[in-house]
Amino acid sequence: MTDKTVSILLIEDNPGDRRLIQEMLAEAANVTFNVQYAERLEAGLECLGQNGAEVILLDLGLPDSQGLETLRAVHDRASEMPIVVLTGLNDEMVGVRAINEGAQDYLIKGQVDTQLLRRTIRYAIERKQAEERERRLQMQLSLSNRLASLGLMVEGIAHEINNPLASVIGVSQILTGEDVPEPVRDDAKTISDNAQRVADIMSNLLAFARQHRLERAYVNVNDVVMAALEVRARPLDGGNITITTRIDPALPSTMADANLLQQAFLNLIINAETEMKLANGKGNLVITTELVEETIHVSFADDGPGIARANLAHLFDPFFSTRGVGQGRGLGLSVCYGIVTDHRGRINVTSQPGQGSVFTVELPVVAQEDRAAAS
Ligand SMILES: Nc1ncnc2c1ncn2[C@@H]1O[C@H](COP(=O)(O)OP(=O)(O)O)[C@@H](O)[C@H]1O
Ligand SMILES: [Mg+2]
Repeated sequence: MTDKTVSILLIEDNPGDRRLIQEMLAEAANVTFNVQYAERLEAGLECLGQNGAEVILLDLGLPDSQGLETLRAVHDRASEMPIVVLTGLNDEMVGVRAINEGAQDYLIKGQVDTQLLRRTIRYAIERKQAEERERRLQMQLSLSNRLASLGLMVEGIAHEINNPLASVIGVSQILTGEDVPEPVRDDAKTISDNAQRVADIMSNLLAFARQHRLERAYVNVNDVVMAALEVRARPLDGGNITITTRIDPALPSTMADANLLQQAFLNLIINAETEMKLANGKGNLVITTELVEETIHVSFADDGPGIARANLAHLFDPFFSTRGVGQGRGLGLSVCYGIVTDHRGRINVTSQPGQGSVFTVELPVVAQEDRAAAS
């Protein structure tokens, strides 16, 4: 193992136990353990959001929480973190139950030595990482399966509706002509406007169902980001949103329909702005472009309200919206999904409720030299 630092959050109220653990960790030869500790559950939970601990060592009996309740509280708040539970000599059963409730492992106080402690910590971190990778893959897979079948259904509906809709729009527009009596003309105008609204929804739905006619060209994604920001440049109510760009000037090109890509980026920017304004009346959005493992990543990181875990799986569904009636149609992210997938890309979201959200668009590199290979 090479020299490295592992950050630990130790939630333990007993000073003796705490010292023992810290001493054992300090003995480690080629790893530095960076230990932060809390004596109470409440203080521990507060630490969770702040420092970048990689593993939690958790005593279940704390002044403000006892037994498995302690584990549940921590697990609820940080389900993506590995937790190793510390139990007393007579509590081995509790340790086993803790594992059933999401802890990675348990250690019995008084039966721990340096080696066991270090190995437990290392395995807990590695196992949890593997679990999280697996969980994300599964989620992505079931999400894309579900969205693919939704897309088929939406496509069917849209095609059925578009033909009759075209005649409603056509005829109502004729009826708004000069030679039509005024009352009829007004009514026809209402019909025409509303039919047009339906047509707009349909066109967004088709975008989700990936029915684009792509006009592909080599594009520099940085330019598309800047173009989206320019469209956005008109100051909407107040200027409490700060947008920062971190552009990688050496970003390779991709093959894309710049207009569509711009629309996808714009939707993400508008969402972030809207959520930050609704939650806090202000906020920061950081847009980053970078090359990660030969893939172009464009991320939109806001410090808005974040997204509840339960909602994450539905964000890209057509008509999913947490905004009030009339505020949102729930089509923005569906359209983004359709556009990005059409570009053989992916769109992901990670979020810490209360702290913000990061939407990342991943696009394949298609360099100009690859022209022959791409066609
Ligand atoms: N940056 C964000 N921060 C928090 N929640 C978001 C963000 N972007 C999207 N969402 C959530 O996703 C939902 C769907 O977004 P979208 O498809 O664009 O529809 P709409 O904006 O019309 O509600 C939103 O209602 C909101 O709950
Ligand atoms: Mg939206």
